Amino acid sequence: MPQILELIRQDHDLIRGLFDELESNPETRDIRCITLRRELPGHMDAEEATLYAWLRDVVPEEIRQSLDEHTEVRGTLARFERIPLRDDAWMPALVDLRGRVEAHFASEEEDIFALAERHLSRADLFALSEMFEREKVAAAQYATV
Ligand SMILES: [Fe+2]
Repeated sequence: MPQILELIRQDHDLIRGLFDELESNPETRDIRCITLRRELPGHMDAEEATLYAWLRDVVPEEIRQSLDEHTEVRGTLARFERIPLRDDAWMPALVDLRGRVEAHFASEEEDIFALAERHLSRADLFALSEMFEREKVAAAQYATV
């Protein structure tokens, strides 16, 4: 299994692809919305339970800022989900959500990844990847209840 930072980047790419599809293909929007609702919170929950938990004591300020961004994304996602697909407000809300999510991904890939590589060992990064996958499975089960 790849180390955790590679798994996180794969998730980010998958979610970026979902946003591309949501913007460009009206035919698949309903199913892609369901996928986004499962993948995005599950990804953030798994990150918080693994990478953030391991870095929190070492770089508390950076992790606090990332947690604030997760809170903002969760709130924006909740507001987005309340807008019907055919409502005129749907596309602007999608663009707003995408902007916040992609800004968070970019700061994570730039800042948090560098901190993880500086403060965690290679063994830690590989051990965390297994925990990350388990947390995502648990979050997906919770999301479907
Ligand atoms: Fe994140």
